[in-house]
Amino acid sequence: MPQYDFLVIGSGIAGLSYTAKIATYFEEKRKNVKIAIITKTIAEESNTKYAQGGIATVWKDEDSFEKHIEDTMVAGDFMSDKRAVEIVVTEAPERLKELIAYGTNFDKKEDGSYDLVKEGGHSDQRILHHKDSTGNEIERALLEKVKSFKSVDFFTHYFAIDLITQHHLGEKVTKDTPDKKCFGAYIFNTITGKTETFLAKTTLLATGGIGQIYQSTTNPTIATGDGIAMAYRAKGLVEGMEFIQFHPTSLYQPGKKPSFLISEAVRGHGGILKNMDESTFMEKYDERLSLAPRDIVARAIDSEMKKNGVDHVYLDTRHLDHEDFTHHFPMIYQYCKDNLGLDITGKDMIPVVPAQHYLCGGIKVNEYSQTNINFLFAAGECSSTGLHGANRLASNSLLEAIVYAHRAFLKSIEIFEDNILPTNIPDWNDEGTTHPEELVLVTEMARELESIMSNYVGIVRTDRRLKRAYDRLELIYLEHEELYRQSKISVQINELRNMINVAYLIIKDARARKENRGLHYNLDNIKE
Ligand code: FAD
Ligand code: SIN
Repeated sequence: MPQYDFLVIGSGIAGLSYTAKIATYFEEKRKNVKIAIITKTIAEESNTKYAQGGIATVWKDEDSFEKHIEDTMVAGDFMSDKRAVEIVVTEAPERLKELIAYGTNFDKKEDGSYDLVKEGGHSDQRILHHKDSTGNEIERALLEKVKSFKSVDFFTHYFAIDLITQHHLGEKVTKDTPDKKCFGAYIFNTITGKTETFLAKTTLLATGGIGQIYQSTTNPTIATGDGIAMAYRAKGLVEGMEFIQFHPTSLYQPGKKPSFLISEAVRGHGGILKNMDESTFMEKYDERLSLAPRDIVARAIDSEMKKNGVDHVYLDTRHLDHEDFTHHFPMIYQYCKDNLGLDITGKDMIPVVPAQHYLCGGIKVNEYSQTNINFLFAAGECSSTGLHGANRLASNSLLEAIVYAHRAFLKSIEIFEDNILPTNIPDWNDEGTTHPEELVLVTEMARELESIMSNYVGIVRTDRRLKRAYDRLELIYLEHEELYRQSKISVQINELRNMINVAYLIIKDARARKENRGLHYNLDNIKE
């Protein structure tokens, strides 16, 4: 049974930056530690890789921490934890300098200063970016760094199934058990089909988002909420699940999953939202027009589409300078041209529609990324630090991930040696059969789940829709539980198990919230 000091689950910005920090620290100390980072497909596949707009930080003299804090609080409908906001905003410049030192290239202007841009909800230019593919550049630099350490074992095509706690030693563990401990995880090797036991003194969940539970999402296929479901099953606390962010502008391409994102930075650059008849509409909803926070813009688009009985609206970029636009947004320009034959700085507007994009809630952590289970940390999109409140400010996600990965690192190195690993952890029980028809059942159940979440738990909710979602989900849950008990482990059946858990948590929290805040909008909460 492999045994590690640090087990990192997930190779996006949160998992990689944590790993780089731990490895650097012990290398400098010349102390041998064992670090494992595991990821369920190839190393770079993650939400991080697809991030476009950039990463927010106060960088220029005219900007201030106070302004970034205020913008974050306003976007979050004043439900953010002020302490978490202050931590992220004030520690941001240091973490950004580290990313740059690891070799991340952010775009610069001719005078050598960074090309800071503006996105929705920001009162100043403070987004560092690499063209319109910032995430890909960050992922590249971090992967290169992490792979340079001898102390790091990198496992690709390894799928984490469940966390190991005292429960696996036969002890009763509940949400309220005070001294719950994590001893690592059971991990399925997707190549050999065997489930391995990874014992670890500390475990970091950095498993990203949940987008795949919706029919339309900007998230890649890895985003099935695995870490959140694992933590929940291990009696970890999960919060804020009703706050699902829909990005206002994904490219309208019916049937395409994931949806291609048209970065908010395009609106920051002067792109204007328009109806089919080319009239503008945002003035009816918010004085910040196309650059209002995402919850407001997504709801406005949803409302215009319903009112006009259409499937999308437009983003007009035709008035923008061709050379300047293609310099800043080469990927978006090329994608629209190659896939839809659009000339978006010439004669064509971009058809756009909101799509699920981000989860603001997640596994509840303290200011050092610790969950309520000892030796279990969470960072990045799967965690809930309190930063985003009821709605995330653009480009604050990559930032939150590096700030809290750093804080997880500080606490991990302090406590990891306190975890005495038991010697009697049982191997994963691998009984069960595989029937070809099981895959069909799993695929169909996943389809039903996506349809329930999209139709009843989307941008606009009602009590009746939420109840219907709850009732339908319960049937899928029961059906899946039976199948799970009888089946051999597969990625598909586990992802569905996790998606059902996560959908349940979203519906539960949405039903419990009786006032409309930020991203949670229920017509029955509107008082006459
Ligand atoms: P991820 O980057 O998603 O990494 C999760 C990792 O966990 C992956 O490696 C995955 O394979 C692995 N994993 C998951 N489950 C398992 C399992 N069971 N076993 C093993 N491994 C597992 N944010 C911004 O701040 N600025 C932007 O410009 C921006 N643009 C975006 C554009 C798009 C299209 C999308 C989808 C998101 C964007 N976001 C942006 C959000 C941001 O990219 C994510 O929130 C952030 O990258 C999440 O990082 P992470 O490390 O938490 O998770
Ligand atoms: C975008 O580029 O619009 C995405 C930015 C984000 O999600 O923060």
